[in-house]
Amino acid sequence: MTDIKIIRTVKELRSWKSTTSGSIGFVPTMGALHKGHLSLDNPYTVVSIFVNPSQFAPGEDLDSYPRTFDQDYSILSNLKIQNKTVSVIFAPTISEMYPSGIDLDLTKQKGAFVTVLGVSEQLEGKTRPNFFRGVSTVVLKLFNAVQPQFAYFGQKDIQQTVVLKRMVKDLLLPLEIIVMPIVREDSGLALSSRNSYLSESLRSRSSIIYENLQECEKIYQESHNELTKDEIVSRFIDLINNEPDFQIDYISLANLETLEELSTIKPGQSAVLSTAVYVTENNRTIRLLDNIILN
Ligand code: PAF
Repeated sequence: MTDIKIIRTVKELRSWKSTTSGSIGFVPTMGALHKGHLSLDNPYTVVSIFVNPSQFAPGEDLDSYPRTFDQDYSILSNLKIQNKTVSVIFAPTISEMYPSGIDLDLTKQKGAFVTVLGVSEQLEGKTRPNFFRGVSTVVLKLFNAVQPQFAYFGQKDIQQTVVLKRMVKDLLLPLEIIVMPIVREDSGLALSSRNSYLSESLRSRSSIIYENLQECEKIYQESHNELTKDEIVSRFIDLINNEPDFQIDYISLANLETLEELSTIKPGQSAVLSTAVYVTENNRTIRLLDNIILN
């Protein structure tokens, strides 16, 4: 068990940083950690835990979002991979990250925000129109605070990785984004902090999402001809939408860098097949995300 330094201010973080030499790997999180979050590939690893208000719309689950700092601390303290441990948890307050304040009502917001046009509006951005503005803004702030050489994000939130890679490229940020493979529950369900909202039984039924994405992948891999998107996803749509409590928000076949929708795909052409599925239980609806990269 390691005693990890907990840092709450940017000033303190910079002063810690001035004592280090060697690359810093950064894992931004909103806490409620699970195995999918973690990587220890650098001499120093900073994990941030910050539930970012600007990526929640009014009415979303900002207040009820799981906050499990003690449990997160204990998971991180017990983590040792090839003798490497987490160096710092950066857990700032809202006013540290938003020194001029932050209003959830977009029309009242003032100050600097980051928008990554072209890849933020579709898919998740359709249902959550200002989500990626909030994510890009906070991640840029966190990058400025931590100044890492490498930053790690999970493939489960594939659109987030596309948006942030584009931000890094377009704003000439001196770091590399590494996308970590999706970590799954034994049932196949992609790990997510919001899975804790589901009962055991619905969690296990939710494995149909990944099972059927794999079926789509099989259709693509076994074909020697160009296929239409419909040929790949129509069975997925029928099976999921016919399952009680499940409703597809989107199933997308898109270019992995631009997220432009593809109507057809040739053998060997790469693309991302991604989905969001609404799952309803006890009058509460959550969206489960998953994806597979076809190549
Ligand atoms: O993926 C998340 O947990 C969040 O969107 C992130 C990247 C930590 C920004 O708040």
